[in-house]
Amino acid sequence: MTYEGAKKLLSENGQEHVLRFWDRLNDAEKASLLAQVEELDFSSIAKQKEILAANLAGTASAAGEQAPMEPAPVTVLSDSDRADIAKIGEHELKAGHVGVLLVAGGQGSRLGFDGPKGCYPVGPLTDESLFYFHARKLLALSKRYEVSVPWYIMTSRTNDADTRAFFEKNGYFGLNPKDVFFFTQGMWPALTPDGRIILDQPGHIFLGPDGHGGMLAALERSGALEDMQKRGLRTVFYFQVDNPMVDIADPAFIGFHVRSGADVSAKVCAKRDPQEGLGVIVERNRRTEIVEYTEFTDEQKNERLPDGELRYKYGSVAIHVFSVDFLVHETHAGLPIHIAHKKIPTVREDGTVEKPSTPNGYKFEKFIFDCLKDAKVCSCLAFDRTQEFSPVKNAEGKDSPASCRADLSRKWARWFADAGVTLDMDADGYPRNRIEIDPVFANTAEELAARLAAGVTIDRTADILLKA
Ligand code: UTP
Repeated sequence: MTYEGAKKLLSENGQEHVLRFWDRLNDAEKASLLAQVEELDFSSIAKQKEILAANLAGTASAAGEQAPMEPAPVTVLSDSDRADIAKIGEHELKAGHVGVLLVAGGQGSRLGFDGPKGCYPVGPLTDESLFYFHARKLLALSKRYEVSVPWYIMTSRTNDADTRAFFEKNGYFGLNPKDVFFFTQGMWPALTPDGRIILDQPGHIFLGPDGHGGMLAALERSGALEDMQKRGLRTVFYFQVDNPMVDIADPAFIGFHVRSGADVSAKVCAKRDPQEGLGVIVERNRRTEIVEYTEFTDEQKNERLPDGELRYKYGSVAIHVFSVDFLVHETHAGLPIHIAHKKIPTVREDGTVEKPSTPNGYKFEKFIFDCLKDAKVCSCLAFDRTQEFSPVKNAEGKDSPASCRADLSRKWARWFADAGVTLDMDADGYPRNRIEIDPVFANTAEELAARLAAGVTIDRTADILLKA
């Protein structure tokens, strides 16, 4: 794109200020700014300006104004149902119909880690990364079902190169690189309250990832969706990078999805307390939706049924199964755009950069869970969070690396207990010695029991590290 072309395009869209430092830029900066302008998606920006204006004018529709909602039906499987339904999922896995989709393009700002969040060390004994645990689970699945399980990993432009380099450096954790497909999501600018694109350097537009909902367009743009179709995938297991307890492509969940003929399924768990920030699974207009907890009034959050249970008990932890046909359909559906008031570095008129201490601009994102309401059939399955959910979101406290490592150890200690090996536990139910199990060594309690029965011995007085 030429300077004249950029100037015309920007002034047609009321954004000519983007070039106001042009005369101060060197050639490389000029080229990079023109490339950024060329990639701007002005039709999305126009929508974002409308949303922003409605938001500031207080005319944006609130959840309360929408049709009435009810808690969505949730299935709780008995052990025998689970075993039966898992057979359907195992059949799908063995037939090579199942792929895995990870969204890892976020910025992890709450954790404050320098690098892709997936590289964060969580192994209680080895400091192995989030990516390690995910990858080794995929490897365990492909060994168990003697099939390749393709893995689609969404990155953003900010962390794509580092993510790929991490996989290279670690030999793809034993996976076949041909079964790992990286693709990058889109980036959107941020806007000032009057709808102007924000520069964070005189020659640079501030850009942020377009949200996990950007996955749908990115799947199509990158060829990942086509790859899924070429490989004959029918079902895709979806999860987020921050939860190393996730049961990837759990056969019972896959089987549940297939048996219910769903377009999309959600694993949901009982909220820790009424204030926990999980999206709540509801039904509205005969469709299933995930409503953000911020859209609930305190009264709704605390409402209880006669048996004392919370009325809106189940939250979503962003573990889904999608049918590939539904993903294809949704790439053309257009998800709503959400707005967030954020602190955004901004160039002052003298060309210096200000790092604001209070929110000064607006970022926009799409959320993948908004596609649930397009599903004709959306099935929800309850799961036990102590087995499958302990995310690394914050640097300290709840949902932190420390709580996650402790939860991992506690889960593995339960596997030992199930196999008849009692470890020394503290009063809070955590093992006194640290434990770590490579998912390729054992990916389930049953697999661990089988390994132990086959003669693996454990020193209960020391830390326990089991690797394949
Ligand atoms: P979060 O909502 O936890 O956001 O993402 P985050 O960016 O990782 O962390 P904070 O909020 O800045 O602290 C949930 C999942 O969605 C992915 C993240 O990588 C994570 O797996 N995600 C989020 C994307 O892939 N792209 C995005 O634009 C946003």
